[in-house]
Amino acid sequence: MRIGLAGVGLIGSFHAKTLRQLSGVDTLLIADVNAERARQVAGPLGAQALARVEDLFTAKLDGLVIAAATDAHPGLIIRAVEAGIPVFCEKPVAPTLGETLTVLKHVEKTQVPVQIGFQRRFDPGYIAAREAIQSGRLGWVHTLRACTLDEGPPPPEYVPTSGGIFRDCSIHDFDILRWVTGREIVSVYATGANRGDAYIRDAGDFDTAAVLLTFDDGTLAVVSATMYNTMGYDVRLEALGSKQSIAVGLDDRTPIRSVEPHVRYPGGTPYPGFIDRFGKAYERELAVFLDVAARRIETPCSAADGLAAFLVADACELSRREKRSVQMPEVRS
Ligand SMILES: NC(=O)c1ccc[n+]([C@@H]2O[C@H](COP(=O)([O-])OP(=O)(O)OC[C@H]3O[C@@H](n4cnc5c(N)ncnc54)[C@H](O)[C@@H]3O)[C@@H](O)[C@H]2O)c1
Repeated sequence: MRIGLAGVGLIGSFHAKTLRQLSGVDTLLIADVNAERARQVAGPLGAQALARVEDLFTAKLDGLVIAAATDAHPGLIIRAVEAGIPVFCEKPVAPTLGETLTVLKHVEKTQVPVQIGFQRRFDPGYIAAREAIQSGRLGWVHTLRACTLDEGPPPPEYVPTSGGIFRDCSIHDFDILRWVTGREIVSVYATGANRGDAYIRDAGDFDTAAVLLTFDDGTLAVVSATMYNTMGYDVRLEALGSKQSIAVGLDDRTPIRSVEPHVRYPGGTPYPGFIDRFGKAYERELAVFLDVAARRIETPCSAADGLAAFLVADACELSRREKRSVQMPEVRS
């Protein structure tokens, strides 16, 4: 297959390596608004660097992977689906709700497959949690606790185009909570704080956030996020049930330490970042995208799923701004 890749920053350069290793990819064409960066990534991989991003749309691609900055997603997705090219796009679909809805209209009109990059759906721990929750083995799940604790803040230039901590970071938790439970979120209460670098506050964002969610069956969930978990990258989910409780992401490398005497667990080297923690899941999602692009399977993570998680993030923004609980129909309408 001829696969294009738009954007080779932090995650895009990792996706480039993965795509190069997938046996289904015969030709990999790489473009970035920073053409020099495209050349630097393509060269050692034996991939082809394109001089301009628009060259992707005349390159007879079988699929396009978009890992560009979030504000570039809507334009690239729309151009691709209008050209009939199946798309894998990193989360979120777009930085704003209006642009997300515009993208969805184009996707629905063209019926071209689109997969959104919620890689946790391909992680063995989350897959096992979904099975455990939906089989009823845990009894009824009274509480879910999810966290995404980044090892450090993104660079200053990333923050103004990211969409903010709820849409950029906690959106992963909102998606995976919907997916593991198979339920919808009905209300949201969110708050944020700034005790870290001033450039985050100056961009109107928060370095730390906490969210309380209620699901349509009454399950409660607590979601927490920070950009300052210097000990390591900590992404976990706990599902606490009336019969049994389980944890995803709790292993010897979890960046937390017990202060109980004689307890040495977890004691391993903490995960330094998202690529160590989710490397295999990123590889699986791109392997699956080749099947989606070849129209062998339906997308496992649609643009509509991207919208559903985005709406929860938008509700969090509203809740935080107005310091009140927000019912999801308010943002859906
Ligand atoms: N799924 C995940 O766990 C995960 C992890 C990290 C980032 N992301 C997402 O991936 C995207 C990129 O994040 P990053 O951390 O790699 O950012 P980054 O800033 O490191 O890289 C972004 C790259 O996009 C390029 N770019 C900007 N506009 C472009 C355009 N119109 N066409 C082509 N290239 C363009 C930039 O030059 C840069 O090389 C973001 O949307 C982010 O939310 C997802």
